[in-house]
Amino acid sequence: MKSGQNSARVSVVRAQSTRRDFLRAGAATAGLTVLGQLARAQGDTGTPRAATGGAPAVLKGADAMIKVGLVGCGAQGGVLLESCLPIQSPKLQFVALCDIWPYNLRHRVNYLKKFNHDPSAHEDFDEFLSAGLEKGMQAVIIATPDVWHAPYTVKALKAGCHVYCEKMMSNTVEGARQMVRAMKETGKLLQIGHQRRSNPRYRFALNRIMEAGLLGRVVNAGGQWNRSVRGSVDLTWPEKFALPQATLEKYGYANMREFRNWRWFRKYSGGPISDLGAHQIDIFGWFLNARPKTVMASGGRDYFKDREWYDNVMVIYEYEHSDQEITRVFYQVLTTTSAGGGYFEQFMGVDGTLKMSENDAITRVYKEAHADWTEALQKGVLRPIERAETIPTSLSQVSLLDVRASADLDAYELPVVLDKKPHTPHLENFFNAILGREELNCPADEAFRSEAAVFKVNPAIEAKAQLKFEPSDFEV
Ligand SMILES: NC(=O)c1ccc[n+]([C@@H]2O[C@H](COP(=O)([O-])OP(=O)(O)OC[C@H]3O[C@@H](n4cnc5c(N)ncnc54)[C@H](O)[C@@H]3O)[C@@H](O)[C@H]2O)c1
Repeated sequence: MKSGQNSARVSVVRAQSTRRDFLRAGAATAGLTVLGQLARAQGDTGTPRAATGGAPAVLKGADAMIKVGLVGCGAQGGVLLESCLPIQSPKLQFVALCDIWPYNLRHRVNYLKKFNHDPSAHEDFDEFLSAGLEKGMQAVIIATPDVWHAPYTVKALKAGCHVYCEKMMSNTVEGARQMVRAMKETGKLLQIGHQRRSNPRYRFALNRIMEAGLLGRVVNAGGQWNRSVRGSVDLTWPEKFALPQATLEKYGYANMREFRNWRWFRKYSGGPISDLGAHQIDIFGWFLNARPKTVMASGGRDYFKDREWYDNVMVIYEYEHSDQEITRVFYQVLTTTSAGGGYFEQFMGVDGTLKMSENDAITRVYKEAHADWTEALQKGVLRPIERAETIPTSLSQVSLLDVRASADLDAYELPVVLDKKPHTPHLENFFNAILGREELNCPADEAFRSEAAVFKVNPAIEAKAQLKFEPSDFEV
């Protein structure tokens, strides 16, 4: 590492982020599931049945097959199913689905049937679990509203299954802690759905830009998720498929509107800062290899007056490195405008800036004029791109200089493009970890330390003060 950079950045987690890992991830190409193979493999894995709890042993060879269940068959449940289908190794077989809303449950079962899976369908989680275990279910994917993550994850782990659970881990810190404890007690795997952790472009950028010290000292970082009001309009439902009030109340939902728009109500979620911000705040800690020391934030119900959570939030963190240097981080989630370039995270060093996004077209690396990146270019870490903007000649000389001083950055792109659906690599990592082929990229204890930064934003807004993080905030 060059002097003047943030030091001591290489953690255990980072050690996994090797070039070898990256090449391996990049080498696996997307493709269609061999449907016939899946169909033939049903009931033919050779794996012993689980009696009353422990999941069966897993076949590890080229024909390895994992039996999977899905809980929560809504929007993200559907995305995860679509992201699983192209996975060829291991082969996956969906054996059971669970959702309290028959409307969504039926839809996903029918979808899977088209691809030669024949899962049983359940409203009740315990019935889902025992039916799944009867069929040899080894892995459970959980994509319910956040409020149900902890109870279901803990039960599934204790029943002997490995779990992939969506972010946020829980709507409460205590719920998230219970999940980590259950993972440790059972020795089963618990992957949290921060899918950027398995994105080969993010892993490449971490390894070849951040850890390689290309940006110099990263004094500032930032990020945003700016979304138009249209992205946040109230979700509706077909009236004839409304759940009975008794079912809603059995699962803790006040009414259909809150059931459909759970992200906006305090009982079920942490609001947009948790729903959208969690993905990106996760990247700050991961890429900086540091934890926040303080947080201050402002947020309000500026537009959606009939919802409980803040629709717009602005946050300032101080991330402290092991050498006590600070990286100041500004993050905003706006649900009333998509202006300002959508969603990205950026790391602003004295030699250059790395702008990351799940959107490939937004990902860029900018070089300060004084920096020499010849070696990185020769090694193919960066690819030059033509600058589209030209400085207008009509500006006065003074403002022309101002523009140049701030805009005269050469732009580069990364030589890595994700050729799969965004969630597929993270799911592949989960299934490969079950087979002992890889380490999890986002185990629950790592995710907990990351989400601790998110959990303190809403309290900071309410306190109208800068809050300090204590070591205990990151401990289970
Ligand atoms: N990783 C990502 O990029 C990403 C993107 C979107 C959502 N998510 C996460 O996925 C999860 C689901 O979000 P969504 O957008 O699909 O929500 P959704 O409302 O569309 O779907 C939730 C589903 O869970 C079902 N459900 C509710 N309570 C249940 C219970 N007690 N038992 C069983 N099923 C229940 C609902 O009927 C619904 O079908 C959330 O945790 C969210 O944060 C992650």
